[in-house]
Amino acid sequence: MSIITTATRMWLTKSVKPFTFTNTYDEKLKYDNEQNMGLYVHIPFCKQICDFCPYCKELYNAEKCDEYIDSLIREIHLVGNMHKGKKQVTSLYFGGGSPALAVDRIQEIICAIELYFDITEGICIELHPSDLELSKLERLKSSGITKISIGIQSFNKKFQFLLGRCAVNAESISKILNEVKFETVSMDFIFALPNQTFEDLKEDINTAFTCGANHIAIYPFIDFTFTKSKIKTMAKKQKRKLLDLITEYCYSKEYRRDSIWTFSNNETAKYSSMTRDNFLGFGCSATTLLNDTFKINTFSVEEYIKRITKHTLPTALTIKFTLRQRMIYYLFWTAYSTKIDSFEFEKFFDTSLKKMYGLELFLAKLFGFITEKEGVYSMTLKGAFYYHYYENFYTLSYIDKMWGVMRKNAFPHNIRF
Ligand SMILES: C[S@@+](CC[C@H](N)C(=O)[O-])C[C@H]1O[C@@H](n2cnc3c(N)ncnc32)[C@H](O)[C@@H]1O
Ligand code: SF4
Repeated sequence: MSIITTATRMWLTKSVKPFTFTNTYDEKLKYDNEQNMGLYVHIPFCKQICDFCPYCKELYNAEKCDEYIDSLIREIHLVGNMHKGKKQVTSLYFGGGSPALAVDRIQEIICAIELYFDITEGICIELHPSDLELSKLERLKSSGITKISIGIQSFNKKFQFLLGRCAVNAESISKILNEVKFETVSMDFIFALPNQTFEDLKEDINTAFTCGANHIAIYPFIDFTFTKSKIKTMAKKQKRKLLDLITEYCYSKEYRRDSIWTFSNNETAKYSSMTRDNFLGFGCSATTLLNDTFKINTFSVEEYIKRITKHTLPTALTIKFTLRQRMIYYLFWTAYSTKIDSFEFEKFFDTSLKKMYGLELFLAKLFGFITEKEGVYSMTLKGAFYYHYYENFYTLSYIDKMWGVMRKNAFPHNIRF
């Protein structure tokens, strides 16, 4: 664990107490009073495994996938029944893996969810480019999907080859997106690949918006220690230059920045599974964030099914937050949207942001990381870069460690950071 992340954690939580995740877990999740809650469903199967990918997934097998979905639906009933009446939630997000491999069962999953939850802002699904078939998209749309996110990674063959993926054809994507319309069409790209230039990324951004996207996500390449990827990471200076050029280019085109990595060409095009105050996660590796608790489900499909068969939650690790820990968690993920609204913070914690983090905000302003207008703190270009830099650090220090352990051990005893 790096000294920087430990020192930052101690400073911001005003405590030497580490973040401790243990295998003891609540059989009942208390989410009655949570506001602005999202739902996440994980489907961990792919037709081909990409060496660079850190997510919980395995090779697709129709029978195993079906058995998994049966358990997933049981988990939804198990958790849904913990609340009386219907609970309002903002969104439902299907991620993976490649969740559209279970296209025949998406409607059944949505129906189970809708028995317990009222979804107010639409249903999203992650798609692999090979999912872009007319019948599949029509099926997804008629099941209730309103937003799609396609894992393009790059329109450039050279980078697809580097990533070990098949080339994508912009013309055929454009044709199919014209035939089946969705409210939000987002496309994922990876940047900071070896020798990637601003011209390469500009080309990707332009192609995305001309072939039917109204939203893009440009993620920096992260080299997780437990993946088999041999791709070299880009030097910090070069990465910063690229990030600034991409951001300035998107601003020059008047695209809205909705989060640190995402831009859209109209206000209604929103797509993010990250910026929710609370969320309930279903399926392997899915996480749940409540007012005082964070929990993560087992990464093992077999163990997941066994737990559900016994009518118990598939929770592997849980942390009960101290108030300061929860505040840091809140601020870290809210900052992902590039803005922190002090009124929202006060509504959530019933105490003022300035009172809790006045010195930190003052220093962040002094160093030019943020600006303030009427209680809303916005990240500057410099602030966004350093947030990105710190997030990268956080990902490699916390997520890399946790996912690395959970891939090997279905129910670890505990993890401390
Ligand atoms: C679950 S995948 C997307 C859906 C689909 N499975 C696909 O591959 O097209 C989510 C996204 O995470 C991003 N991603 C995966 N591994 C990454 C890595 N090592 N660094 C940065 N981004 C990564 C990719 O942009 C990918 O589209
Ligand atoms: S990037 Fe997508 S297709 Fe590749 S292994 Fe990860 S989830 Fe599967």
